Amino acid sequence: MAEFDLLIKGGTVATASDSFRADVAIRDGRIVALGSSLGGAEREIDATGLFVLPGGIDAHCHIEQESSMGLMTADDFYSGTVSAAFGGTTTIMPFAAQHRGQSLRQVVKETHEKAGPKAVIDYAFHLIVSDPNEQVLGQELPGLILDGYTSFKVYMTYEALKISDRQMLEVLALARRHGALTMVHAENDDVISWITDRLLTRGYTAPQFHAVSHPRIAESEASRRAIDLARLIDAPMLIVHVSEAEAARAILEARNSGLEIYGETCPQYLFLTAEDLKRDGMEGAKFCCSPPPRDAAAQEAIWRGLKNGTFQVFSSDHAPYRNDETGKLIAGPKPSFAQISNGVPGLEVRLPLLFSEGVGKGRLSLNEFVALTATNAAKIYGLHPRKGTIAVGSDADIAIWDPTWRRTISQVMLHDAMDYTPYEGRQVTGWPRIVISRGRIVVEEETLQVERGSGAFLERRPSERKLVAARLAPELDPDRNFGADLL
Ligand code: URP
Ligand code: ZN
Ligand code: ZN
Repeated sequence: MAEFDLLIKGGTVATASDSFRADVAIRDGRIVALGSSLGGAEREIDATGLFVLPGGIDAHCHIEQESSMGLMTADDFYSGTVSAAFGGTTTIMPFAAQHRGQSLRQVVKETHEKAGPKAVIDYAFHLIVSDPNEQVLGQELPGLILDGYTSFKVYMTYEALKISDRQMLEVLALARRHGALTMVHAENDDVISWITDRLLTRGYTAPQFHAVSHPRIAESEASRRAIDLARLIDAPMLIVHVSEAEAARAILEARNSGLEIYGETCPQYLFLTAEDLKRDGMEGAKFCCSPPPRDAAAQEAIWRGLKNGTFQVFSSDHAPYRNDETGKLIAGPKPSFAQISNGVPGLEVRLPLLFSEGVGKGRLSLNEFVALTATNAAKIYGLHPRKGTIAVGSDADIAIWDPTWRRTISQVMLHDAMDYTPYEGRQVTGWPRIVISRGRIVVEEETLQVERGSGAFLERRPSERKLVAARLAPELDPDRNFGADLL
């Protein structure tokens, strides 16, 4: 019997810190050796001229989830995970989303029932908390954190989801006590609804006005406010899907001042602009997401943030609603921008876009690419070192990239359940040839190789940070004259 199940030979291995020539030996789903002249294997892959990278982790995607308007995403856990795998992603972190009045426990149970029989790659769930009532704060959330659901998203906007600043403080304090991380959708809801009402009254209903109704200032004000709430009680926080320079600056300044504040951005803020929302007719609806894409200067600021440590995580925020009567046009063929479900797809193209424009054009090193697309998310969300790196003992989640493979992105080549991609016609160089999850070859020769339901749920543990969280760091704010016992 061969010593290894699989041997990847002759490739350039890259982690978040190093690049080196090594063969990678895999047994029982794990990496068991890195080196040269390793023993025999059941199957050998010649990776000469290719990059051997950790499989991507998409730490923000909406799969088989109802939007705040009650619309189900086009992708379920089968099409979503297949699509992710074809783009080099081997772990996804979608949401178990609570709508008001629902039990979080029940929502988690139902999300497991959806994912278990369908997912082809591994997955963990964040929670969405829209109803932080006594039962949720006192019992459900602490219990769920202990059970390994250690990150949850809250919204400062969307009528059906938003929480108040006071509720945010309750959630942050709880996360701090129990070793969890709060993710924040930061946009000022009153600013958005005030502008929206004025636009609609004056007849400005086309998709392009979605961008007008979600100005940068709504995002930067809410980001600063969220960070200040975290600062008040020294709680960790991650601001999701950042689109513009001021919010990015607030995140970097907060972290430089010693706070545990993280930032996430997404492809739509590097590769789309508000001009896309002006496309003819309802074409612009394809680009309506929140926050909206901005302009070339904002794109440059986001690139800078990927390089200077503002952003740790590059996620897709895949929110797939087809541009037809089942999705964005469910309210009719010509809805107002306020009736169009927010979100763009991007699960499959997230990595190729960043690889091509980032690594290929010299904006990011290969190691930075790995950090932003896999390792940092694994560390922040409690999956490291099992996921997010290539090391002895880690799961054999690997994408073997051909850095010379030129492709033109088109919806027909993608594997999601969508009827459009916002990146139609865009040329990229670099795409994974083979994708491996826990030692199983998932994608090879542009073909899916595994069965539905073969992905596994990933258990997590509350963060060690709770051990040091008893301290309130007075140096962060000299006016904060209450003690940690108040929390
Ligand atoms: O427009 C977006 N981003 N829709 C998805 C839901 C969310 O807020 O992340
Ligand atoms: Zn959001
Ligand atoms: Zn989202």
